[in-house]
Amino acid sequence: MTDLHLSLDRSAGRLAAQIAAGFRAAVRSGRLTAGTRLPSSRDLARDLDVSRGVVVTAYEQLTAEGFLIARRGDGTRIAPLARPDGEPAPPPRPGAPPRPAAPPPPPSYDLLPGRPDLSAFPRERWIAAARAALRTLPHDAFAYPDPGGVAELRAGLAGYLGRVRAAHADPDRVVIMNGVAHGLSALLALLSATGHRAIAVEDPTSARQLPMMESTGLRLARIPVDEEGLDVAALTRSGARAVLVTPAHQYPTGVVLSAARRAALIAWARDVDGLVLEDDYDAEFRYDRDPVGCLQGVDPDRVVLLGSVSKSLAPALRLGWAVAPPSVAARLRGHRAGTDLGGPVLEQYALAEFIAGGGYDRHLRTMRRRYRARRDALARALDAHVPDARVHGVSAGIHLYVELPPGRDEDQVVARAARAGVAVAGARSMWSAGRAASAPPALVLGYAGLGETRLVKAAELLGQAITPGADG
Ligand SMILES: Cc1ncc(COP(=O)(O)O)c(C=O)c1O
Repeated sequence: MTDLHLSLDRSAGRLAAQIAAGFRAAVRSGRLTAGTRLPSSRDLARDLDVSRGVVVTAYEQLTAEGFLIARRGDGTRIAPLARPDGEPAPPPRPGAPPRPAAPPPPPSYDLLPGRPDLSAFPRERWIAAARAALRTLPHDAFAYPDPGGVAELRAGLAGYLGRVRAAHADPDRVVIMNGVAHGLSALLALLSATGHRAIAVEDPTSARQLPMMESTGLRLARIPVDEEGLDVAALTRSGARAVLVTPAHQYPTGVVLSAARRAALIAWARDVDGLVLEDDYDAEFRYDRDPVGCLQGVDPDRVVLLGSVSKSLAPALRLGWAVAPPSVAARLRGHRAGTDLGGPVLEQYALAEFIAGGGYDRHLRTMRRRYRARRDALARALDAHVPDARVHGVSAGIHLYVELPPGRDEDQVVARAARAGVAVAGARSMWSAGRAASAPPALVLGYAGLGETRLVKAAELLGQAITPGADG
């Protein structure tokens, strides 16, 4: 069978032994892994052009040796052997480098930011949406797609973003991307190609995006963030004509861009003939105040709205969007046509169906309630266990920014927390080198993935890591 890459030398005879040897080699090399289901003896015999009895003999031999497991109703599968050849691991050769240590166990309390509650992915409703989409798709839908994204999803998102984010989003302005990161890297390439020399970005910002931004060849201008958000006067002095901002919930500090700064930012973009890239990464989650409409709705010809389902559904879907001025949307579409021919369409149709059927709104309502309860539990527990920390960004999103009490060493706190089983991110790597030294040590705590009881325990352990001996 070609899929199994078993080759037979018919002149050498003993075909059953050759088949068995081929399977053993495939298991040893890892090409066939535990649990893999094998073809029926009838199908394999047909594929190899041998009699069925030859395959049955080979399967019986391998079953007797423990390579295969045959169960009625479940067919024949590769057995879960730790070492397929059944030999104990050889002792290390003298002088050989030591075996790598076993990886550390996963943390008991994972408070790393950037993930929604992955266990809450609406599997059944997603399956239903995907099934409904697949059932009704015309054959043509399986051809190379519109590189800007399938029309149904662009229309669905335009409606959703207009309704929920006050975006100015007709479907022609919407371009489907593989997440915010993909949209950003495509836009940086376009900026570079159209004469931009610099890109401004908030200080601090997401450390995950920095290497990608640095690799574009554009000069990175880091712009301080204060209690009103991005310092637009500093942006003006930077000389950049494009800026990446997180106005609804600054990442990581959680500051909301003030009304005065929003107006100043739009005025700046008009003055310099510039472009604002609005990263709306966690806009769905607002708890204590009305959602702030997106900046793009204020000046759709100066702002590109970037969003994705990474926080609302799951980052693994790699589904996001850019809502851009028509000329930029056309270039983004062209960029996709010229670099990757567009994104996978089945997920796009499934999301379009999920939005149209109300599943997306329903899921977000559920998650908002759940995250609010988690936010409350963590904020209260931090207040109890680390009363002298300053907690920022509580009113929105799925992370908190926690300034440590004076005199604490961020790295030591992160390391002590890790030893106690609590994974947290220090904020220093999110600051520019110039400002990291003066920025108060801080942690960024993602709370979406843990239930309230576990969050309270994590806060207690974190309190001990921040102030050893104080709390328990
Ligand atoms: C602030 C911020 N924006 C954007 C992203 C990337 O999101 P996406 O998965 O949509 O590419 C991240 C990833 O963690 C992020 O923290």
